[in-house]
Amino acid sequence: MSSSTIDFDVKQVAKSKIDTVDFDSIEFGKVYSDHMFVAEYDEGEWKNFRIEPYADLSISPANATLHYAQSVFEGLKAYKNDEGEVVVFRPEANAKRMIVSAERMCIPPIPEDLFMEVLTELIKLDAQWIPTKPNTSLYIRPVVFANDPYVGIRPSHTYKFLMFTGPVGAYYSEPVNVKIETHYTRAVAGGVGFAKTAGNYAASLYPALQAQKEGYHQLIWTDGQTHEFIEEAGTMNLLFFIDDTLITAPAGDSILDGITKDSVLTLARDWGMKVEERRLSVTELKEAFAAGKVQEAFGAGTAATISKIKMIGYEGIEYQLPSETPLADKLLGALDDIKMGRVEDTHDWVYKIV
Ligand code: PLP
Ligand code: COI
Repeated sequence: MSSSTIDFDVKQVAKSKIDTVDFDSIEFGKVYSDHMFVAEYDEGEWKNFRIEPYADLSISPANATLHYAQSVFEGLKAYKNDEGEVVVFRPEANAKRMIVSAERMCIPPIPEDLFMEVLTELIKLDAQWIPTKPNTSLYIRPVVFANDPYVGIRPSHTYKFLMFTGPVGAYYSEPVNVKIETHYTRAVAGGVGFAKTAGNYAASLYPALQAQKEGYHQLIWTDGQTHEFIEEAGTMNLLFFIDDTLITAPAGDSILDGITKDSVLTLARDWGMKVEERRLSVTELKEAFAAGKVQEAFGAGTAATISKIKMIGYEGIEYQLPSETPLADKLLGALDDIKMGRVEDTHDWVYKIV
């Protein structure tokens, strides 16, 4: 729990729009709660902290972000646990990662305590928007973007920090088919792949669309130099359970260092499993398939949660994964139990709002 130490101006909606929302069929990313947080950065400081009704913004046509994508964002989730308490999963980790992303994009960082206070006040105000059905949550989207009306190239002098929320259901409603991408590149060594920044997602749209036309949900990105080593998917980190070992790509500058992945690895280590953070080549994966050693593969991400992989496509061959997924099921259950307060939160992952 926390009490506010930063002064917020709070302007509440005259009438909530919650009655217009069908909580029985919530899609990801289409509905937003009543309020949003807004702050501005100008003359070297963050200022004008306020919560106001969720509404469109007025943006200069010359806005630097529209042209050059100098922006960073985060994604995290709030839940109502079995006791009716409002909790957020590992928000400090998101606050820290946004600072790392901001530094790479020349954006003034949001201090962790400001991030946490904004989050706390916003979720308190819109707590009734947290859905309670299985696989639903309140998605929280902080975003910071350049706001100078200037089309020259330089780091902006002014920025906006927004945080808004919306009830969401599952990002992927079924196990996914993914294609190993060997032509296009998401991120290169020395680039911005580790930062949660707009351009990474824009660059992935065209290759992902080509794969979707072939019936895939997502791509498995490989390293930009050799296209031989598996990196991550467009919205989640990837984990492979091969020969009783859980393998995932090591964090580096071309991969987003996922908080869900870290949680999964931590649980797996707690359970005494063999865990390896190392490069996995496509050749090694193919050989493991041929030897019948690939037990499971899944993605891990905030929006995607644990997304089971049904099939992996590579150079026209479809590699099918077993339909039994005991490890993914156990991880999903364990993460749920922690969020819902059913088991002891031994890693201090659950942040209680009220
Ligand atoms: N990789 C990418 C590219 C993502 O967009 C995400 C989602 O946030 C992830 C990995 C998973 O990160 P996290 O578990 O912190 O949500
Ligand atoms: C998340 O999992 O929070 C993401 O940001 C993934 C996607 C919606 C961009």
